Amino acid sequence: MRLTYTSDVWYKNAVVYCLDVETFKDGNGDGVGDFRGLTQQIDYLAGLGVTCLWLMPFFPTPNRDDGYDITDFYSIDPRLGTLGDFVEFVRTAHDRGLRVIADLVVNHTSDQHPWFAQARSSKDSPMRDWYVWSDTPEPDDPSQVVFPDKENSFWEYDEGTGQYYLHSFYRHQPDLNVGNPEVRDEIARILGFWMELGLSGFRVDAVPFLVENVNPKLANPHEFLQDIRAFMTRRKGGSILLGEVNLPYKELIRYFGEGLGDQITVCFDFVGMQKAWLSMARQDAGPLAAALRERPQPPKDCQWAMFLRNHDELTLDKLTEEERHEIFRAFGPHEDMQIYGRGLRRRLPSMLGGDLRRIKMAYSLLFSLPGTPVIFYGEEIGMGENLDEEGRMAVRIPMQWSDDGGFSQAEPVREIPEGSFAPDRVNVADQKRDTNSLLRWFQLLIERYRECPELAWGDYTVLDTGHDAVLAHRCDVDGATMVIAHNLCDTALDVEVTLTRLERCRLTDLLVDDNLEIADDGTARLPMAPHGCRWLRASPPEIPPEDASIKAR
Ligand code: NOJ
Repeated sequence: MRLTYTSDVWYKNAVVYCLDVETFKDGNGDGVGDFRGLTQQIDYLAGLGVTCLWLMPFFPTPNRDDGYDITDFYSIDPRLGTLGDFVEFVRTAHDRGLRVIADLVVNHTSDQHPWFAQARSSKDSPMRDWYVWSDTPEPDDPSQVVFPDKENSFWEYDEGTGQYYLHSFYRHQPDLNVGNPEVRDEIARILGFWMELGLSGFRVDAVPFLVENVNPKLANPHEFLQDIRAFMTRRKGGSILLGEVNLPYKELIRYFGEGLGDQITVCFDFVGMQKAWLSMARQDAGPLAAALRERPQPPKDCQWAMFLRNHDELTLDKLTEEERHEIFRAFGPHEDMQIYGRGLRRRLPSMLGGDLRRIKMAYSLLFSLPGTPVIFYGEEIGMGENLDEEGRMAVRIPMQWSDDGGFSQAEPVREIPEGSFAPDRVNVADQKRDTNSLLRWFQLLIERYRECPELAWGDYTVLDTGHDAVLAHRCDVDGATMVIAHNLCDTALDVEVTLTRLERCRLTDLLVDDNLEIADDGTARLPMAPHGCRWLRASPPEIPPEDASIKAR
């Protein structure tokens, strides 16, 4: 094992598990998840094999955007516990070898934050410039408004002082002004505070909004990202920024820090994610293959983050109208399943009609695509959504631990779904006992993924398979190669791939007991089951016994 595969760059082959403390496990019986409940479940998470927990916002909040509206960056929402509970949790996670990162939501605060109260108290307030004000805001482009069901502008008039303030999201979330050095210092203090309490980094909310929507415009908006990354590295080497940067590749690549990799460490691949859904809808690997071929290489020591679902809507904003509707037709045909005209408020298993073979294939794809896999709690057991919950809350439902729910002894903070994804059908306890379950499949995928440095460190090449429905790619690193194939359709197929420099090698399937041979001309035939997946590791041809004895002499 080379030094470059060591834990210094731990995020390159991490398995990130996103959870909301509020909906994961209630430890004190009040119906709201909390740090005590979460701490009790650390062994479950360690057993699953994930290596890094990403906590959604857990700070004091009026909760008008599920905690993404913060009133105090240095404390814990009392409903979720105390700072003491937090520290106990982090210590327990570290004891089991798990790192912890948290959402960093500093594009905006809640309008209830004391900073904003102070800023709006008068135009002469010493904190006025902590936010972005205007007498005459630029006209809005309604197509750019993020939550068009509730907002139609980025600006809200403040009666008290007669100016407008900027809000990239809801009007109750005024944008902080990182053009102001005092704000930048305060953000560094927030980072320093939580790193001192054991965090290994942050998932940075809304990165392009954070650096672009400021006053005055920064000469080099990326300098701010460089500054906070350098600050973090000085304080704690190996700490990371995992960035929510939903932009086309060409613009996105700048957020890593061109050439230098000195800004966002890991960026979510929103384009790849959307193309993966288009490919699944069409049962045609083409769109995903094209995205992977087009996707730029991140700078050294940076990485892509791969995901299929997260806590927000499944956004399809980078597709054409026609492509979006193809996905709507396939995976969310009812209006109630759609949101903001651009996405779906559903979880993956229900979108795939509960078809276990297809669901397993989708997650195999996720774990084998080049980049760090990020999963959303409950994906490992195939939880569905509850469309009775408002908006995006449909997917943020309580974790299903046992057939009676097992999240809380009291009425839970959000409603548990009924029907085929209800806890009596989908829960952790049952799936632990079932060797064929999705949970066991996740454990296997995570174990294999962690054992295969080719996937995280390798150079990847998308292969021609001759069949639209099959995506195949190879990952090469230091003379080791893996060949991966996924059949997106529900019929069995044989495909042929050409594997240069692997002539006469053997391919060992790491998921099932099977070996395949590569011919003298480098071609290999891969039989693919309906929605089948293969993770094949190449090993050198076996030397026939007579040749081996010659070699020995
Ligand atoms: C992105 C988060 O993922 C989303 O949930 C939130 O509503 C917005 N940022 C605003 O903070």
